[in-house]
Amino acid sequence: MNLFLRVEDSMKIKSIILAAGQGTRMKSEKPKVLHKIAGVPLVEHVIRLSSVIDKQKPVVVIGHQADLVESELSHLDIDFAVQNEQLGTGHAVKICLDQIQENQIVLILYGDTPLIKTETIENFIEFYDENVLDLSVMTMKVPNPKGYGRIIRENDKFTKIVEEKDATDLERKVSEVNSGIYLINSSLLIKHISDIGNDNQQNEFYLTDLVEIFNQEGYNVDAYCIEDYSELLGINNRVQLAEAEKIIRHRINEKLMLDGVTIIDPDNTYIESDVIIGNDTIIYPGTILKGKTVIGTNCEIGPRTVIENSIIEQGVVVKESQVLDSKVGNFTKVGPYAYIRPGSNIGNEVKIGDFVEIKNSNIGDNTKISHLTYVGDGDVGKNVNLGCGVVFVNYDGVNKNRTAVDDNSFIGCNVNLIAPVSVKENAYVAAGTTVTKEVPEGSLAIGREKQRNIEGWVTRKRKKK
Ligand code: UD1
Ligand code: CA
Repeated sequence: MNLFLRVEDSMKIKSIILAAGQGTRMKSEKPKVLHKIAGVPLVEHVIRLSSVIDKQKPVVVIGHQADLVESELSHLDIDFAVQNEQLGTGHAVKICLDQIQENQIVLILYGDTPLIKTETIENFIEFYDENVLDLSVMTMKVPNPKGYGRIIRENDKFTKIVEEKDATDLERKVSEVNSGIYLINSSLLIKHISDIGNDNQQNEFYLTDLVEIFNQEGYNVDAYCIEDYSELLGINNRVQLAEAEKIIRHRINEKLMLDGVTIIDPDNTYIESDVIIGNDTIIYPGTILKGKTVIGTNCEIGPRTVIENSIIEQGVVVKESQVLDSKVGNFTKVGPYAYIRPGSNIGNEVKIGDFVEIKNSNIGDNTKISHLTYVGDGDVGKNVNLGCGVVFVNYDGVNKNRTAVDDNSFIGCNVNLIAPVSVKENAYVAAGTTVTKEVPEGSLAIGREKQRNIEGWVTRKRKKK
């Protein structure tokens, strides 16, 4: 029988990603495949990988909380198949076979196995191709095989996969296990999927039974055992989730370092998958960089800094601070202990010093806000100096209002700016002033009680005692 399907003939790898299970062992309200590592859902890591290999659209099998999974993945170019009842991995593949054509090679991946590398899949395809196989399973030898399906070989021939719960004591001792990644001839898969039964401990339709079925039919079956088992870690509980996080964190950090970023302590630096960092930037320990953050060259970030979905331009220093959904311009210095909240746009060569909070505000170039200041809903121009303890009083209990401080103005210490209000260009507000109306261009606003001194007051008070 010549049913072989060579990769180069077909050029058609079609992937199926199984992601319908609840993931009971996670003990979570959320479906397992939506739990994140390095800021990206487990299943999205797998989808991204398959998109590199598979020139068609992958089919993602969803089921448990399907609506939620679908909406979380709606930005990706994929097809869905819905498995209403999770009757096992074999059943999951069966329900999407109407989306699979004959004479293709089906790459099956599990949504809970996110660490596999592209090169490894490519080598696997080469192995499948060179050995003229109809079905191949990627396997690994692990120190602790508990929970995995065991790879059973008789006289060197790979005969079947036995699930942990169905295994004999002897089979349980086998350390080579099933990763959950398969290449299968689609015509044979379609033909034999219904031969899978559910007569096992879990009464599930196991995809893994195909190995025995294909062997019985005399098709070519072999296992491809890879060295680095950390790539094939399946995530079933939160311990494995943390293990996977650690592995992926090191990969991300290593790649950044090789691309020219200095990371002082990679064990202590948490950078999500989509963050971009320019070369000669130094990242100090305890730093967490999240979401779509982009950091330019020659910056110094950290220690103990969180930056999320923000753009940090070149030569910026951010120490012991948080920057969320904002932009920070070239050569600006932030921190220590500054808090830049969403919607802020900080210019070039600005100083945002200690205990300064900026929210939904624009800050012009060369402006200095050195200490203990709150800027909420503000539009601050260039070359402005905000003294210590300035408060933008933006909330009247009902509405948020904006405050404008125009170019070259000077706001003294402990000034309250009661919004909506504006200080025009080149103006000066004396320390301790409460500003309730516009300060015109070039003028001084001073609104505070005149000081009087009562001579001898202390001495008299002490005598009374
Ligand atoms: C599975 C394999 C096991 C392998 C291990 C690797 C089977 C029968 N067992 O076991 O040999 O060593 O993965 O990690 O395949 N899913 C569905 N629909 C279902 C059931 C599962 O989509 O009806 C999805 C899950 O969402 C998950 C994946 O398939 O992403 C694997 O399911 P899981 O229950 O975690 O299988 P394991 O017990 O880990
Ligand atoms: Ca699993």
